[in-house]
Amino acid sequence: MLRISALRLLGRRGASRVSLSEDFSLRHYSSGPLGVRDDTRDSRAYFTTPIFYVNAAPHIGHLYSALLADALCRHHRLRVPSDAATGFSTGTDEHGLKIQQAAAAAGLAPSELCDRVSAQFQQLFREADISSTDFIRTTEARHRIAVQHFWGMLKARGLLYKGLYEGWYCASDECFLPEAKVTRQPGPSGDLCPVSLESGHPVSWTKEENYIFRLSQFREPLQQWLRGDPQAITPEPFHQTVLQWLEEELPDLSVSRRSSHLHWGIPVPGDDSQTIYVWLDALVNYLTVIGYPNTEFKSWWPNTSHIIGKDILKFHAIYWPALLLGAGMSPPYRIYVHSHWTVCGQKMSKSLGNVVDPRTCLDRYTVDGFRYFLLRQGVPSWDCDYYDEKVVKLLDSELADALGGLLNRCTANRINPSGIYPAFCTTCFPSEPGLVGPSGRAQAEDYALVSAVATLPKQVADHYDNFQIYKALEAVSSCVRQTNGFVQRHAPWKLNWESPVDAPWLGTVLHVALECLRVFGTLLQPVTPSLADRLLSRLGVSSTERSLGELHFLSRFYGHPSPFEGRRLGPETGVLFPRLDQSRSWLVKAHKT
Ligand code: MSP
Repeated sequence: MLRISALRLLGRRGASRVSLSEDFSLRHYSSGPLGVRDDTRDSRAYFTTPIFYVNAAPHIGHLYSALLADALCRHHRLRVPSDAATGFSTGTDEHGLKIQQAAAAAGLAPSELCDRVSAQFQQLFREADISSTDFIRTTEARHRIAVQHFWGMLKARGLLYKGLYEGWYCASDECFLPEAKVTRQPGPSGDLCPVSLESGHPVSWTKEENYIFRLSQFREPLQQWLRGDPQAITPEPFHQTVLQWLEEELPDLSVSRRSSHLHWGIPVPGDDSQTIYVWLDALVNYLTVIGYPNTEFKSWWPNTSHIIGKDILKFHAIYWPALLLGAGMSPPYRIYVHSHWTVCGQKMSKSLGNVVDPRTCLDRYTVDGFRYFLLRQGVPSWDCDYYDEKVVKLLDSELADALGGLLNRCTANRINPSGIYPAFCTTCFPSEPGLVGPSGRAQAEDYALVSAVATLPKQVADHYDNFQIYKALEAVSSCVRQTNGFVQRHAPWKLNWESPVDAPWLGTVLHVALECLRVFGTLLQPVTPSLADRLLSRLGVSSTERSLGELHFLSRFYGHPSPFEGRRLGPETGVLFPRLDQSRSWLVKAHKT
């Protein structure tokens, strides 16, 4: 428990219970044909990554957070292909004690450290093809205005008071800790030092007069919000975790620090002796980006999806919604939570020297390759272990062999000398297995393939909605395998274009396989944008034919004309994804260590 006792609180007069009902309106969403929320068609959607601390260079865990948000956002754009409809923000979290101390340790002014590391994040995200529409730095003037305005709203609603705060503070995690969350560990000199039980980071005792937010008043409204919207925090186990936290008493929260102790931050309006708590400052970034406090922000809020790691769940699922409710706004639409990457079973940390540099990985495995790996292997509900061999094995088997091989098999000059999208023959492959006549060649497994690929976009959309991107990729990969099986079964290389008996079936086999590839290319765009672009271009799919609404898989089979029949394939004949050369020196080195 934080040691804020009623006796110690100063200036309690004027405290009022806020009425939440008029502002707290939950939106209801229903599903459309692709599992798309009906309202996404005409309303805006806004995706956010956490903003990243600038005390150290980016690692693959940070990139993972950003990639998840990028894939979700890109998938949304496939559903609603209008630039104006989707916002996507990322940025750097530059204030607070952690940064102040890191700068001092590096012998730099805080602003120098911020400029340097923020630039590294910006460069990494550019290289990794993160399609953000804004990059916010909390040291920007627009952000100071937003934070101070937000503070003013809380103040005006009687939700801030001055009180004596006494308790543990962890600068590395930028959070207050109750006694029960603190343990003792031998420090560098062998003496026992107090550390956070969860993170192991050092904590220090703090006693000062601060501004305090009446967080305790929000326990019930938060419970009401979460019970009324079971998907608010996704995946579900995290939703339950938060509900469980809310079973316990919710202490008020200290939201400022003495400026003499913390000068690197935004001053409390009207009281320069206090600096605003860095988490309040950081969370408001989500509003700054959409124009808050100007009313334009209302066209984005609350249809917002926050993508966060599990370590910052409490800040996003308790503090942030409570602050929003306090300021008269609704909680965000979704909080998507992911777990962490470890290295050889250990947490990544500078002191352990096991930090994996994302830029080296993008270089080694290509941008699309590494994006695919992290999103295909990362599971939101539990931690994943990183090692290089795993990347090579996955990319060689799924991107180089299965997908690249399939494309090559169906487009190689030897098998498709005319270089066109061949015609589909409805008598060879009638729309129902029962209608297969004497010239019919399709088998039961072929119907299973068509049905699997026809339902794939909906399946993938459902997985995205449930924040199970790895399952979406697993489903695509399984259909790629099935399509390879189809091609293998009918061995088009044994059929002859010159034979009037073989030719319609040969064209049909290739047509079906190319249609499957078109679906895979479309669905892979959020994860491997360049590779999907090359794949779709090779199939002759134009840029206006790449959204989910334009997919129309195998229309001839369903009795409609196909815009692709007879179309010339794209000219690019190179390898889609080269196998990773296992003899590369870095891999040999990785084996030895
Ligand atoms: N600055 C805060 C967030 C403020 S948001 C208003 C912060 N920054 S962070 O740089 O420490 O973390 C940013 C994101 O990276 C978080 O989502 C965190 O979970 C994620 N990751 C940090 N290490 C990670 C791994 N090892 N693996 C996966 N993600 C991890 O917290």
